[in-house]
Amino acid sequence: MNAIAKSLSLVALSIISIQPVASKQSTPTDHTNGQLWLDTNGEHINAHGGNIIKHGDTYYWYGENRPNRGFTTQVGVSVYSSPNLRDWTNEGVALAVSEEHGSDIERGCIMERPKVVYNPKTKKFVMLFHLELKGRGYEAARVAFAESDTPTGPFRFIRSTRVNAGIWPFDMDKKAQKVAQSTNPSAWKHWWTAPWRAEVEKGMYLWRDFKDGQMSRDMTVFIDDDGKAYHITSSQENLTLLVSELTDDFLDFTGKYNTIAPGGQNEAPCIFKRNGTYWLICSGCTGWAPNEARMFTSQSIWGPWKQLHSPFVGEATGYRNMPANKTFGAQGTYILYNVSLPDNTSTLPYPIFMADIWNPRHLSQSLHLWLPIEFSEDGTPIIRWTDKW
Ligand code: DGJ
Repeated sequence: MNAIAKSLSLVALSIISIQPVASKQSTPTDHTNGQLWLDTNGEHINAHGGNIIKHGDTYYWYGENRPNRGFTTQVGVSVYSSPNLRDWTNEGVALAVSEEHGSDIERGCIMERPKVVYNPKTKKFVMLFHLELKGRGYEAARVAFAESDTPTGPFRFIRSTRVNAGIWPFDMDKKAQKVAQSTNPSAWKHWWTAPWRAEVEKGMYLWRDFKDGQMSRDMTVFIDDDGKAYHITSSQENLTLLVSELTDDFLDFTGKYNTIAPGGQNEAPCIFKRNGTYWLICSGCTGWAPNEARMFTSQSIWGPWKQLHSPFVGEATGYRNMPANKTFGAQGTYILYNVSLPDNTSTLPYPIFMADIWNPRHLSQSLHLWLPIEFSEDGTPIIRWTDKW
């Protein structure tokens, strides 16, 4: 048994022994990576691209409620609750689509990658998510805000927006701003050439969207040790990531933001901080198909971010023998860390990389993959296939 397997069974044991409710009722359910994960009603957990928080003694899992056919949002954002991170009860719809014609969240819009965080100052649960307006494919590229007094909702939709309209990244000096303003996206008929990439790095799409606001698609929210919240998103046609500071109520942007890996084409940002170091694990951009993960590290949320190799290693023993260089067939959604175990006295001993194995023909049947993150001696994350959560 390797160290992580030992540690997983220790967590399982601690869940079994410390969580009186769960242990009285039954042994917590094991979930097999690469297979359907059933809730307490025996139905596959329909919560994709989401995240988990703990509030009181309960874990809440939020995610996209995906239809069996098609990809537009028909229901909204699901929420499940659990006493032990294993037995999940369907709590219904946290944020429902609107039936009102013309609403930003009208049924048939696209709600993706919802992330819920608790704001201790306002005592509200705040949800940020990627929103595409009905009938406009993926061109709106907005972030949306919703809020609730309770973890299971109903969340009230507040608004959707592009980000940082009319504002330069905080470390872009006047000279660099001038260079960005000299670029011209309509002059580039052919993408993916070296000269085109150089223009992207100068800020060609940043400048194109400067007035109306930057695009925001795949996204996550990160709360730092000092309680400040940050929105991290795929912007500029999914070519460049943006990290933007949120206001104290988490319902707006302060205007301070920066770029990460301009032109690097990163999606599905997942972040955690350990011993003062930030780790960001992303995917490439290949639609629903898996690709090789990318990893970045920094000593500050504002960078500079250094790109490393993918953290995924090991045998291709998992889902359909998908190899480590295809993220075992999955795409990340969240890294659960610094959360207390059911006993509330200790914290999860390792981060959990939460990911989706997308099933584009039947998105509701997309699978869940949770893998523990190990660390090499120098503290670099390593992720191997593990059969069960
Ligand atoms: C990849 C993204 O990560 C998903 O959230 C989703 O937007 C798909 N692309 C759509 O093709």
